[in-house]
Amino acid sequence: MPTKVLVIGACGQIGTELTMRLREIYGGEQVVASDIREGNEELMSSGPFETLDAMNKSQIEDICLHYEINEVYLMAAMLSATGEKFPKKAWSLNMDSLMHVLDIAKEGKVDKVFWPSSIAVFGPTTPRENTGQHTVMEPTTVYGISKQTGERWCEYYSNKYGVDVRSIRYPGLISWKTLPGGGTTDYAVDIFHKAVAEGSYDCFLKEDTALPMMYMEDAVRATIEIMRAPLKEIKERSSYNLSGMSFTPAAIAEEIKKHIPEFTIEYNPDFRQEIADSWPSSIDDSAAREDWNWKHEYDLDNMVTEMLSHLK
Ligand SMILES: NC(=O)c1ccc[n+]([C@@H]2O[C@H](COP(=O)([O-])OP(=O)(O)OC[C@H]3O[C@@H](n4cnc5c(N)ncnc54)[C@H](O)[C@@H]3O)[C@@H](O)[C@H]2O)c1
Repeated sequence: MPTKVLVIGACGQIGTELTMRLREIYGGEQVVASDIREGNEELMSSGPFETLDAMNKSQIEDICLHYEINEVYLMAAMLSATGEKFPKKAWSLNMDSLMHVLDIAKEGKVDKVFWPSSIAVFGPTTPRENTGQHTVMEPTTVYGISKQTGERWCEYYSNKYGVDVRSIRYPGLISWKTLPGGGTTDYAVDIFHKAVAEGSYDCFLKEDTALPMMYMEDAVRATIEIMRAPLKEIKERSSYNLSGMSFTPAAIAEEIKKHIPEFTIEYNPDFRQEIADSWPSSIDDSAAREDWNWKHEYDLDNMVTEMLSHLK
């Protein structure tokens, strides 16, 4: 059977680049993009697009049936910072969409599911440095609670019903093609746009707030690699820790100054500081490295060079 993919939430920060990469691998017609809004021109013109609400199970089923989908990537969600403004909406979207897709897989209508978790599953009581795969998890944001609960459901559906659902705890993702969608690590993308356009940046986190981050190329590659890995290599059925780099706002500003010497930064922390303070500063991803051979390619210096070369 040829691989036929449905990406739900395809027009977001990750979905856009993931869909384009999947279309390169499997062919444009094989990868159906879907979202509640339209995406960029490249995405809309390179393969099928369906308007789809991830809260509507029968709509997801109809599209899976119509296109004979066997793999679903569920990228629709409300992210950490927006989730704190609309906690009930974040909970409904993040949980209902996952349960619909897990049930569709349980009913044998698709073979494989990718669902992203996040470093937000950790909380203030988690050891912050080199945070392990299995550790204390007491998230304090509604987003983190939804991701942790989602992980439990993924493991449950895998153990009880044999559903092949695979998951990664993404760190903050940095990309130049699509703007981020309301997370706590968005500063690490905004800073580049402001550095290029205005030569200065007003940062909403403190200068010494270290957070785990990853360049989008690495994140998309990890997503496709875990989905293509042989079943026996996937041992964590909740979600895998995944790490690329870890830096503070001050460190990324210093790196940008190497390319734009006149760049200046100010720090005015807002409500997102409290969210960032509850998350790890670095992640131990040895399980992903051992089980399915994960390797990151981008560190702070080559990521900054790449970002500026595309945005300038
Ligand atoms: N970006 C990050 O740094 C990051 C980090 C960790 C985890 N994640 C996770 O990765 C996934 C994708 O994140 P992203 O950054 O691309 O988010 P995003 O906000 O940029 O994109 C989400 C997309 O989902 C769509 N959407 C919202 N409600 C929908 C609905 N009811 N039906 C269908 N589509 C809907 C939105 O229109 C949007 O295009 C999410 O699960 C997120 O929690 C992201």
